[in-house]
Amino acid sequence: MCGIVGYTGMQDAAPILLEGLKKLEYRGYDSAGIAVTDGGKLSVTKVSGRIAGLCEKVSNGNACPGLTGIGHTRWATHGAPTDTNAHPHRSNDGKFAVVHNGIIENYAVLRQELIERGYKFESETDTEVVVHLIEMYYSGDMKKAIIKTVSRLRGSYALGVVCTDCPDKIYVAREQSPLILGLGIGENYFASDITALIAYSRNVIYMDDGEFAEISKDEINVFNPQGKTIQKEISHINWDVSAAEKGGFDHFMLKEIIEQPNAVTATIAPRIKNGHIELDDIQFEEGYLENISKIIITACGSAYYAGCAARYAIEQLTGLPVQTELASELRYGNAFYDEKTLIIIISQSGETADTIAAMKECKKRGSKTLAIVNVVGSAIAKLADYTLYTWAGPEIAVATTKGYTTQLAALFLFALYAAQKRNTVSQSKYSLLLSTIKSLPGKIQEALDMSQSIPKLAKKYCKTDSMFFIGRNTDYAASLEGALKMKEISYIHAEAYAAGELKHGTIALIDEHKPVIALCCNQTLLEKTMSNIIEVQARGADVLAVTSADNQQIVSISDDVLFVPKIDTVFSAIVEIIPLQLMAYYVAKENGCDIDKPKNLAKSVTVE
Ligand code: F6R
Repeated sequence: MCGIVGYTGMQDAAPILLEGLKKLEYRGYDSAGIAVTDGGKLSVTKVSGRIAGLCEKVSNGNACPGLTGIGHTRWATHGAPTDTNAHPHRSNDGKFAVVHNGIIENYAVLRQELIERGYKFESETDTEVVVHLIEMYYSGDMKKAIIKTVSRLRGSYALGVVCTDCPDKIYVAREQSPLILGLGIGENYFASDITALIAYSRNVIYMDDGEFAEISKDEINVFNPQGKTIQKEISHINWDVSAAEKGGFDHFMLKEIIEQPNAVTATIAPRIKNGHIELDDIQFEEGYLENISKIIITACGSAYYAGCAARYAIEQLTGLPVQTELASELRYGNAFYDEKTLIIIISQSGETADTIAAMKECKKRGSKTLAIVNVVGSAIAKLADYTLYTWAGPEIAVATTKGYTTQLAALFLFALYAAQKRNTVSQSKYSLLLSTIKSLPGKIQEALDMSQSIPKLAKKYCKTDSMFFIGRNTDYAASLEGALKMKEISYIHAEAYAAGELKHGTIALIDEHKPVIALCCNQTLLEKTMSNIIEVQARGADVLAVTSADNQQIVSISDDVLFVPKIDTVFSAIVEIIPLQLMAYYVAKENGCDIDKPKNLAKSVTVE
């Protein structure tokens, strides 16, 4: 995720900005830059790649003197990770520079308007519209220019702006992206993240949506959207640096679990416009989706399990046969696919070796590839015929959480989009399912809120060497991911089993030492799974059931129950995975495991 910092005071700004940017490195980034004002001079330096490269380019700050500046680490969204697309962006008249976190959703319309008014764009970013708007609205009063500019923006932003007419000031504004002001003596700061400030200031002001501020070395003035001064509370931070990086959470994994409502919103909200799904980032040829005869989903690990869970939605809504294939199998196998097969490739990192290899095989046979990827400009994103990004932001914990749920969200959007193109859903069903997709972030939040008992349950379920996850259909798909989460971070053997298969062998293993986590959100198959619960309980297993809020009948046949909000079965995996992620997290915590960096695992598997 992008990060921003700013400084104004009595010291040279550049070294402080570079230090601040280094503190933001943990969030993941692909390019970085700084802008420093020195009297009427504005110097902007940016590089793709590491901050070390930026430090080298500015001789650790010595090459750009000046007491006021802004800096940025970029995680590419609009446009590849290049020097030109890196921030800060500069106005055509060279007076202003802007850094931005977030996504300007209406940038395309604004860009067109600005081009028609004669503004020249250098980058492909959404951010560049902001600096040109400021130039357009500026007539000697920065406050007015900021008010007018932000009134034109839709989406999310934390902005930092410098102007050569007032070289000792910084302007910042916030809407739905974190922005914190740090107070010093004779110097002041801002950042998107407390980590970048903590070495300099522990007295901070949290900006709220719609507010903007003028920062100079001796004072900070915060304004409401109309420009009226508001009094803000000053908070004192007593976190240490490592807690600050994790936003106060014990682990990145927990932070990322909690971030899921926002990550899913970022993935779906910009793609739902006027009651329709618009996949602007994909240009399928006219008639393409209408004429395919089959879909193969291929990926590794959790990304593969996201495919397994979304398969039900795609099949049911589009009427197309969907085959799921592990990438490491597909690349060497003889699965049938041809030019009428759409291959959906799923990858958080976009760099997984087996997934890339499977993709290349498919392309050789003339199949088109649709990549669901989180990292802009990654190998898979570049190779694919079509790319639909998940906007999860960087995932730092090795075990994926928000990567998986945003993959599901993107796949559900695709399923409904393709169904409408293929005319396989009625208008009323389309509207109903679309409103369900829109409700997913709220449902995920409810699932998080309903998980209060998990830390206590984890104390009971952590004392085992082996456990089973069972479910049918969509519940089975979710159990695959639930079991993977459990085994990779807690090192407890966890096996997912289709509940209907138990009697065909696995039930021989069930006894009082092997708890069973039973997923029963699929309403149609509820009674069948309930019978399986009774069977495993009869063999001594403790059963923890995960079910929809209204299935109270489960309480009497299970030892423990975790409820999740009720949701249409085709989408239920995205909700029922939440307590399973938390269960894995708290079990691993109970057992003292290294949660963010489990043994033997790497975040990106770039070798076979
Ligand atoms: C599990 C996990 C892995 C990845 C797999 C694919 O928590 O993170 O199973 O899902 O290695 O990685 P990507 O999605 O980067 O291709």
